[in-house]
Formats: sequence, C-alpha cells, structure tokens
Amino acid sequence: PAPGWSIDADVVVVGSGVAGLTAALRCEAAGLRTVVVTKARLDAGSTRWAQGGIAAALGEGDTPEQHLDDTLVAGAGLCDEEAVRLLVTEGPDAVRRLISTGARFDTDTDGGIALTREGGHHRRRIAHAGGDATGAEISRALVEAVQARGLRTVEHALVLDLLTDAEGRTAGVTLHVMGEGAHDGVGAVHAPAVVLATGGMGQVFSATTNPSVSTGDGVALALRAGAEVSDLEFVQFHPTVLFLGPDAEGQQPLVSEAVRGEGAHLVDADGVRFMVGQHELAELAPRDIVAKGIMRRMREKGAAHMYLDARHFGAEMWEHRFPTILAACRAHGIDPVTEPIPVAPAAHYASGGVRTDSAGRTTVPGLYACGEVACTGVHGANRLASNSLLEGLVYAERIAADIAAGGTGGTGTGGTAHAGTGAADAPVRGEGGGPVRTAAPVLPETPQLQPLPAPEDRSAVQRIMTEGAGVLRSAGSLRRAAEELAELQAAAAEGRGKRPVPGTETWETANLLLVARVLVEAARRREETRGCHWREDRPDRDDQQWRRHIVVRLGEGRT
Ligand code: SIN
Repeated sequence: PAPGWSIDADVVVVGSGVAGLTAALRCEAAGLRTVVVTKARLDAGSTRWAQGGIAAALGEGDTPEQHLDDTLVAGAGLCDEEAVRLLVTEGPDAVRRLISTGARFDTDTDGGIALTREGGHHRRRIAHAGGDATGAEISRALVEAVQARGLRTVEHALVLDLLTDAEGRTAGVTLHVMGEGAHDGVGAVHAPAVVLATGGMGQVFSATTNPSVSTGDGVALALRAGAEVSDLEFVQFHPTVLFLGPDAEGQQPLVSEAVRGEGAHLVDADGVRFMVGQHELAELAPRDIVAKGIMRRMREKGAAHMYLDARHFGAEMWEHRFPTILAACRAHGIDPVTEPIPVAPAAHYASGGVRTDSAGRTTVPGLYACGEVACTGVHGANRLASNSLLEGLVYAERIAADIAAGGTGGTGTGGTAHAGTGAADAPVRGEGGGPVRTAAPVLPETPQLQPLPAPEDRSAVQRIMTEGAGVLRSAGSLRRAAEELAELQAAAAEGRGKRPVPGTETWETANLLLVARVLVEAARRREETRGCHWREDRPDRDDQQWRRHIVVRLGEGRT
C-alpha cells in the first residue's frame, strides 16, 4: 500500500520491549533522531510477561566463564561461542546500567541483588523483580525513561515492509497505524537505520506463553526484504505452563522456572518425581530436557499434563516470592499452597530469527535486529533460561553503539553474520564442517504482502503447526504441515474463501503463514534431534551432518 504520511529520522526502532526501548534510549543519548514504532501500546509485548528474571554473573563466586559454559551446554553444540562471550562478559554491566535507568530488582538481606536459579544454571545468577514480575518492572522502567526523555513514539503501528534505496540500502519502513491522529492509515518512517525489535512468533502455535502481538512480523519483514534468517526450527517449548485443558488456545499463564529454582518438584499423578535420575540437575536440567521428560511421562501415563508440586513453600513464600503466579493459578481455581499445579509444555521462545553479527547487523545494509526477533548466535539449539532479557539488553546497546559510530548496518550478502560460522555466501553454514549447498527452494514463490490470507486462516495455521511442528515432530507430520500450509497460500493466491480486508489482523496472518512455512521447511531439513528440535523419526543428535545452521534467504529460489 502507498504511504499517506511520513516521518524523517536517523533511526527507527520497531518494537518496544527490552531490546527496542534500550536501543532507542541509547541511540537518543548518542544524539540520533530516534523514532519508536510499536504495534500496540509501548508495554504490550513479551517483555512485560517475563517472570523468572535476567541472568548475569553478578553473584559471589560466579564468573562470566561459568555463565558461558552453561549457555553452551544448553545450546547443544550450535551456539556461536564469541557471541555468547560478548553476552556474558558485557551482561553484568548492562544489568547495572538498566538499574541506573530505573529498574528496581529484588534485594537480599545484605542489600545486594537477590539471585535465584533456573534450569541449566549451575549457580544462582537470575536477578528478579517484584518476586516473579521481572519483565513488568523492566518494561515500566524503560517506558518511563522513554517518556521522560521525550522520545518520539508511534503506537498501534504494524510494520509492513522495509524501504530500500536504489543501492539496496535500508531507507525506512512502511507502517499501518490505527487511531493515532495525524499518523493514521498507511505511512512511512524514512531513516537510514532500522532496528527490528519486534519480538517472537509464539502465536504461530495454538497454545503459547506469548501475548497476541507475537506474530513473527519482524522475521516475515526480513524474509520479504531478502535478509538471512537462521535456526527457525528451534522453537522452545516452556516445560511448565499452567494446563487449562487440551483445547486451550492463545496466551497461557507461565509458571516460571524459578519455582523449580526455589525447590518445587515435578511429579506425575502418583506423586513420583520423574526427572530424578534423568539428569544430574533433575528438575533444573536445561529446558529441552525437562520438556521432553514431561512429554515422555505424559505418554507413558496417557496423561494430558503433569504436576508441579510446591505446597512445601507455604502461603507466606508463595505470596511474597511468586505473587503473579499465585494470582494466575487462583484465578483458574487452583491453589498452589494446598494442591499441585497442573502443567504441560507450550510454545515459548524462538531461538532462531533474523541472522545478525556481533553488532546486530543483518545481511541487509542498514537493517539491524535484536531481542527475540534476532538470531545473534547466543542461543544455539536451545536458549538457556533468562538469557533472553539479557540478550535484548546487551545486543541493543551494541547496535546503538554501531549506529552512533556511523556503522552502515548490514553485513551485505558478502559479509559474515555469526563470526566463525563458515563462508558467508553459503546458504547453509557448517560450524567447522563448511557450507552445505542445496538447490531446493524453500518456497516456490518470492513472498509479498499480497495476496492476503482469509480471516479464518490464523487459527488454521495455529492448528496445523501445533499438530505437525509442535514439541514432537517427524518427517510425516512435517510433510503434512507443509502441504496444508501450501494449500492455505494457494487459496489466498487464487482468491478462494472469504475476501480478506487489509488491516492489522490480516497482515499478521500473512506474516504467521510465511514464518510457519519457512519454519516447517527448516524442521524438515534438519534430520536429527537436537536441543528443542525433537524428531521422533530421527531420535539422535548427528554432529557429523548437523552441527550447522540452516540459513534461509528467500527470493533466490534456494536455502
Ligand atoms: C521463566 O520464568 O521460566 C521464563 C524464563 C525464560 O524464559 O527465560
């Protein structure tokens, strides 16, 4: 659609979670004319739902090196070690700067930052706020800082596509805005630097911990713009999401890993602690291992869920330490003080995303990405708990520094994104094994924001993905998913079904359909089980063939 209004800036930041607002604040502090655009309200994204906390080596005896080790183990052989090293070494100071910006973390009896444990961490290194409301506090502090600094913001603005100049450099974005006066309808922000911080894509599945705005908009935009996207098959399922019935849809209440970090037990209906003996850390094993342990036990028992038992915390600890979770459980008729909490895995986090280098540069000049939308290389095949807020913080700061230093953004197609991951023009990169080329196209067509899918396609995409590409995958389930998604695309192309009205929900559905199709293709190609990608027909990890990333760039007819 043709823009009806426009704004000029030096930087446009798309998204307003921890990554977007940190990037915006740092760019503004560097004297850059900065505009933040966000799809709903400034505080509506995933950040404010984060419970457990933010991981950093802040505790006595802890070191960035130990944090690095835990992150690499969780990442199952696919982390970019240098990217992780930057994360863990810059992390502690980035958290301190966040505190200077106004975030208030819980303190221990000595007045130091209180630290808890979560899955995969061998030490207490998770800082938290308001007990289990860490993201809400971070969001409050950053939104207030943005408002105090008078940053220009446009809310209710769905990003549509990237604008580029004749040389293929970023020139801004087009947006669809609703109810914002002078900036209503389709418009544009012109800027030579665009920072994607649009969050995740949890809404591609039926049940997720993500809010309704997490529809993969940034990844879809990047794919349409010809940027490289990596590791999309690694969707993390959080092991302990409050079970509200087999047909529960949309955003589901999270029961933080920190509940296990403080000593809660996972049990089956007979009260047996089934994670004991499966991993040295039992309930605090990395997230993929706990999710699989739960799924296996559910199958063995023919059960729809397991239980998290934390009755021994007592009422006082529940009220003080986990007020958000206590309230959510009670709102659904479950009292964790007197009964075990029914839990099951649900889609939680996209470990992959738009591929970047250590300055957050994508492969399109001028286009940056940070936070969940990005694939910086720190998460590998399975993100370590509470590394996501930290990644948003650290890499947003790196992006702002790069733009302020006059960085061009974008490694270009001849540059290297993740350091050390092989030849840059290789569509599928090996870590050490060298690139693997494949002539097979990921999608038959070059996607555009038209033709648009029908309104009812959103729930169809979610059903197809949950059945075919959820926690348990196989060649057969993924093939069926691919066929059904292709049929939805064909129906849209041929104008079959109800006529779609262009608007936020329709464009979101187009984005969901595109990222779902690419995700399924990546999952089909990865013929092994690794991290949070679990193939029932390929149950083993295959380091010989698959210690490598699946990198997708559309528009060239190949991966
Ligand atoms: C949680 O609180 O369990 C979520 C932490 C995370 O996803 O990193």
